[in-house]
Amino acid sequence: MEKEIDILLQETLERLETIDDAKELERLRIEVLGRKGTIPRLFKQLGESHAHERPALGKILNKTRAHLENAFREAESRTKSFAPQISTLDVSLPGRMPYLGHLHPITQVGSEITEIFQRLGFEVVEGPDVELDYYNFEALNIPKDHPARDMQDTFYITDNVVLRTHTSPIQVRVMEKQPPPVRIIAPGKAYRCDSDMTHTPMFHQVEGLMVDRDVSFADLKGVLTIFVHQMFGQDVDLRFRPSFFPFTEPSAEVDILCVMCRGEGCRVCSETGWLEILGSGMVDPEVFKMVGYDPEEITGFAFGMGIERIAMLKYGINDLRLFFENDLRFLEQF
Ligand code: PHE
Repeated sequence: MEKEIDILLQETLERLETIDDAKELERLRIEVLGRKGTIPRLFKQLGESHAHERPALGKILNKTRAHLENAFREAESRTKSFAPQISTLDVSLPGRMPYLGHLHPITQVGSEITEIFQRLGFEVVEGPDVELDYYNFEALNIPKDHPARDMQDTFYITDNVVLRTHTSPIQVRVMEKQPPPVRIIAPGKAYRCDSDMTHTPMFHQVEGLMVDRDVSFADLKGVLTIFVHQMFGQDVDLRFRPSFFPFTEPSAEVDILCVMCRGEGCRVCSETGWLEILGSGMVDPEVFKMVGYDPEEITGFAFGMGIERIAMLKYGINDLRLFFENDLRFLEQF
């Protein structure tokens, strides 16, 4: 009888392996485990066996039944998961495209800006968002009583530590560490305590700095003209308008001809025909002294621009908040 049990087990397991149809599986289950199946018959036979064999045989038979029940359960779940798929899989259907993400428009425009300057030989550097008052203000010739230091604009962490209000502190950090010549471009976040239609508390800037012997205002104009033409198109006019920054002298803001009205005057450019895109100037001798450069020997220019602003003008986006709302209907257009 022991032999018979073993053969039953091996044969049933072998047959189970080849079955992938639920009906066939059920037929085999009834044949082996059903009320009138082989296993119950063997149990009946057990009652007729010699008393001294019975406990051992009973044990084997119980084990075999448990083994088979398990094997049937496994086979059942296998046929269930295969069967419906096999019958509904249409291999001629086109595949489903996986959803691909992409870079945020601010990241894209930021890279586009830095790449233009990289082609001109500028090196990309970064600086900390949490900045010492010294680098954000003091070393940039922004005295203690300057309006830009007002609590309204600056997020103070402690008396001496702020969230940088612009990327200009990176200029100082770079010059402090290396002698001239310097040619860097520095993208990053900036923070100002300001929030309305055209301002967000966090925004992005790109800083640029070129310092060497004999760097002149003509170099500033040349480099920034190349930038504007590569960014907005060769036919876009620009102008340098006198301005003021504590860390540059002289200073100039760069305007481009309004991308909407091409100079006619419209709501976007407040009827002026021009749009401001960046601040710039010749590095102030005071800043050179702070980093240990000799202002008699060395000159240079710096500039800074807001990435959101450049992106809005380039793509005709009228609401700054779109960049921060993460609405896919907006983001997918880039
Ligand atoms: N840091 C200035 C700003 O945030 C921009 C600027 C940078 C101006 C470098 C001149 C030179 O507005």
